[in-house]
Amino acid sequence: MDTNGKPVLEIRDVSKIYRAKAGFFTGSGKDVVALDRISLSIKKGEIFGLVGESGSGKTTAGRLIVSLEETDSGEILLDGKPITGLKGKRLKKFRSKAQMIFQDPYQSLNPQRSILDTVSEPLIIHKVGHANNRKDRVREALKSVGLSPPDDFIYRYPHRLSGGQRQRVAIARAMVLDPEFVIADEPTSMLDASISAQIFNILLEMREELGVTQLFITHSLAAARYLCDRIAVLYHGRLMEVGQSNEVIQNPKHPYTKALIDALPKFGHSGERKRYGTLLSREREGTGDMGCNFFPRCSLAQEQRCNLEKPILENMGNQHHVACFLSQS
Ligand SMILES: Nc1ncnc2c1ncn2[C@@H]1O[C@H](COP(=O)(O)OP(=O)(O)O)[C@@H](O)[C@H]1O
Ligand SMILES: [Mg+2]
Repeated sequence: MDTNGKPVLEIRDVSKIYRAKAGFFTGSGKDVVALDRISLSIKKGEIFGLVGESGSGKTTAGRLIVSLEETDSGEILLDGKPITGLKGKRLKKFRSKAQMIFQDPYQSLNPQRSILDTVSEPLIIHKVGHANNRKDRVREALKSVGLSPPDDFIYRYPHRLSGGQRQRVAIARAMVLDPEFVIADEPTSMLDASISAQIFNILLEMREELGVTQLFITHSLAAARYLCDRIAVLYHGRLMEVGQSNEVIQNPKHPYTKALIDALPKFGHSGERKRYGTLLSREREGTGDMGCNFFPRCSLAQEQRCNLEKPILENMGNQHHVACFLSQS
């Protein structure tokens, strides 16, 4: 797959802050900086992995890209066109091009709707085809996600499907409009390992056969390595490291990435993977907003620098970028 093409999706210096609700009863919570000046560019046909632990801002990034949420600053472009502030018809058109598959297949499907209704709904919303050929398109979409023969499924309701089958339906629904870009937000975190592998293969097929560009969101570096051409590591809303998957796994530069790799179960050939011994430090006090977001947990951090200034991503060559003063010097 040629992934040197032009970018399909560009995220430029994007921030998202969830404001604390001020109110007598809600108290004075703190604002949450879910994403802090993120920049990424995803190429046509690429599967790009966004990796981070829970709360790091992954879902927020997905929701911003599909316009379910608005950025506070920065810009997002699909095919070179800004999606920020799209309204009416143009927003609708954009929505047909970028689809999101959610984490929980038990919540993302409406229990009252048959599989036929569920998968044909995007066609109806976007006025694609007529009642008869819509059914054919639904059949094709179901076949493409391995729900075969499709007529065994179209009149069923979600409660009669397993978790893996439900996630397949959610993928079929995302694919039925032939989107250019798909975001899969931890699509297998609720599923067993063997079922997860099947879902991963469907995502790979979507890329191989249809050239669909994907943002694959996961907390698992191992899953990202299996699926993705490139990986970005997110920590508390900041990008720590971005590079080709093999490069990031075999030659990680950020202490957080190294700690994630140390925590991975053994994979591949024995001895292939180095151990870094970069243990996460117990949470320590940081000055807060000024320093590196990883400072409070970094066992290698230097008080004088890392606690006072935010490192930004720097190109270390070989398309490998890292945001860490210790690795940049
Ligand atoms: N609607 C919301 N209102 C307030 N805070 C939110 C909202 N959605 C997410 N957050 C906060 O933003 C941060 C990032 O969340 P999220 O993007 O869901 O992370 P992830 O998907 O990596 O687990 C978390 O601290 C989360 O609590
Ligand atoms: Mg999430």
